[in-house]
Amino acid sequence: MQVDLLAGAGYAAPVLSLRTPTVLVFDSGLGGLTVLREVMRQRPDADIVYAADDAAFPYGRLDEPALIARVLDVMERLVERFHPDLVVIACNTASTLVLPALRARFALPFVGTVPAVKPAAEHTRSHLISVLATPGTVARDYTHDLIEHYAGACEVTLVGATRLAGLAEAALTGEPVADAEIAAEIAPCFVARGGRRTDVVTLACTHYPLLLPRLQRLAPWPVEWIDPAPAIARRTAQLLGPARPRPGPASTRAVFTGGARLSGPAYIALAGFGLARIETLPLPSALPA
Ligand code: DGL
Repeated sequence: MQVDLLAGAGYAAPVLSLRTPTVLVFDSGLGGLTVLREVMRQRPDADIVYAADDAAFPYGRLDEPALIARVLDVMERLVERFHPDLVVIACNTASTLVLPALRARFALPFVGTVPAVKPAAEHTRSHLISVLATPGTVARDYTHDLIEHYAGACEVTLVGATRLAGLAEAALTGEPVADAEIAAEIAPCFVARGGRRTDVVTLACTHYPLLLPRLQRLAPWPVEWIDPAPAIARRTAQLLGPARPRPGPASTRAVFTGGARLSGPAYIALAGFGLARIETLPLPSALPA
């Protein structure tokens, strides 16, 4: 298996066109907003579609064949509707599994998001690092191969948090989330052994940086938290090629396959990420195979 820090590095012809590129940023829910924010910062010239397959959220609980079928099916509809020039899979749970199938199905560049194990291994001094992810990402062969390739000199604790992505969505959409609930989800990341302590935690689910200030405050001791979003946005910008001058502001919109969480606070949160135009593309929570 080929292992890249950014799974998008596999196939990559630059997007060579004189017109404004459209970038589709895809996640199971609101986590991809942490990647979108960086893409928009680095490439304000691109038109943006943020697509959340929230009808099937959370992806972390889906088995592998079901997740592959789901993402291919949803992507088919999104590509048909929005004709993107490049797709960012802003979801570790999907990227660590579905990228080969997506690249085989669509003649488009895909940039993936996979656990930032290499930078964690480079930054640690204690050689105790943790990967905070979903249960799906923790189970992937891809994740285990990354660790074997890049973190052989480290002791790596893999933490598959079952509730943290949901808690991040709840907090972003204005629901109360107790500190104790977050603290319980991150507790297994903190390992003390033989006078050493975990000093780097890589955020391997795009939802988790939404909670970063609370993660920092609730950590039993200070660690470096790695958010891969800037690196993913750099890769996206590289594939888009030079920025094009454009006559007016970029078009930005969000599309949801469910929309159940779309209430007042969610609209306010989305507006904070530059998304004021919201639509739904209703899909059942489980598509027929
Ligand atoms: N944001 C997704 C990720 O990066 C996962 C959340 C989910 O379980 O759907 O893995």
